[in-house]
Amino acid sequence: MTSETQPPRNDWLQSYWMPFTPNKAFKASPRIYESAEGFYYKTSDGRKILDSFSGLWCCNLGHRHPKISEAIKAQVDELDYSNAFNFGHPKVFELANVIAGQFPGDLDHVFFVNSGSEAADTALKIAIAYQRLRGEGTRTRLIGRVNGYHGVGFGGISVGGMVNNRKFFGSLLPGVDHLSFPYDSQRQSFTRGEPDADVEPYMQQLEEIIALHDASTIAAVIVEPFAGSGGVFIPPKNYLKRLREVTKKHGILLIVDEVISGFGRMAAPNAATHYGVEPDIVTVAKAINNGSVPMGAAIVRKQIYDVFMEEMPAGVEFFHGYTYSGHPLAAAASLAAQEVFRTEGVYENTQALAPYFEEGVHSLKDEPNVIDIRNVGLAAGVTVAAKDGAPGARGGEVFLKTYEEGVAVRANGDHLAVAPILTMGRAEIDMTIEALRKGLRAAA
Ligand SMILES: Cc1ncc(COP(=O)(O)O)c(C=O)c1O
Repeated sequence: MTSETQPPRNDWLQSYWMPFTPNKAFKASPRIYESAEGFYYKTSDGRKILDSFSGLWCCNLGHRHPKISEAIKAQVDELDYSNAFNFGHPKVFELANVIAGQFPGDLDHVFFVNSGSEAADTALKIAIAYQRLRGEGTRTRLIGRVNGYHGVGFGGISVGGMVNNRKFFGSLLPGVDHLSFPYDSQRQSFTRGEPDADVEPYMQQLEEIIALHDASTIAAVIVEPFAGSGGVFIPPKNYLKRLREVTKKHGILLIVDEVISGFGRMAAPNAATHYGVEPDIVTVAKAINNGSVPMGAAIVRKQIYDVFMEEMPAGVEFFHGYTYSGHPLAAAASLAAQEVFRTEGVYENTQALAPYFEEGVHSLKDEPNVIDIRNVGLAAGVTVAAKDGAPGARGGEVFLKTYEEGVAVRANGDHLAVAPILTMGRAEIDMTIEALRKGLRAAA
């Protein structure tokens, strides 16, 4: 940068192009987290902010858990990086066993990546390549869902269903269809937990898509157990189970994106276990190591892995991978985090707290502009009525006012999303709800 192009001295925020952030508004009025501990962030203007969004759905155990911090420090002093291709290090093998052990059935093989987006794209590639290797090379179509979010890779946005994440980026992957969004706000608003609605119309729609293209052209269906980034919408009871049945009947793989639901968010270790459903591929990231070092994974059934091993007799079996796949720091952090999940009663605490949280969020029903509230485990969505001609503006205002009250949540358009740290107690839930209440009133 030359001295002529040098920004003014106090303009130190300008060079960083922030992701999924209104850059101009942020830089006019920044919120800078300087440090964190437990349930709280500390800001550059000296405020303490209760983190009721678990970072970004990832710090499920709170910030700077001592066991995770220690593991990362010890790892960096032992092995900072290990070539991911043609070499391994002990912790990545150990971690694959630990992760595989938490998922049902024969979801036994783990392909490590560095984010949820990479996990989604990896899963889609595995699905298409698997179909080809088992002699069904015409199965290349993918089916996602309206309002779904599977990250920002071209695969993820193609099967994803959020219009702003798609419309700027051209024609995306060919051969993708979308299931309807399984939520009827006319009938299901203010539902506690899973709506009690008929899922068969959604299954009928899938059957019709299959009939239209023929099953022999379809590789996989990918869904989130509940729409997280889409605003916390929970499909009706039995949705995932029925989806499993229909996909299985037609030889279509079921990919379940557990990037948010994995590791406790639904008051269970993962959605597959919670629903008693065995997907063919599960994607995870975020809380796999409590958000401390970027990491994700695609967890794959034995039968799929075996096809790659058998059909590719020599050399590389899957032409895919990342420089930082299974990074030693991420793996060490994840081993520590998984031990905390196992030994510190995290899932039990989440289960015990969830009904209290549900009561709390639904107590916001009569606050100004609230038109819907939904919850599952320790996740909730509160929808406010959009302002005329300015969708998302009111949600953004409530988010800012709630932040002014000392609590961080998230606005996805006009849906406020709340995701408390799983180890919080009733006091933090109360603080969150009361800050949101004040935020809703202040933004009215
Ligand atoms: C269900 C789901 N899949 C994928 C992603 C993408 O993850 P990342 O931002 O780590 O790429 C997210 C992120 O929120 C997600 O919620």
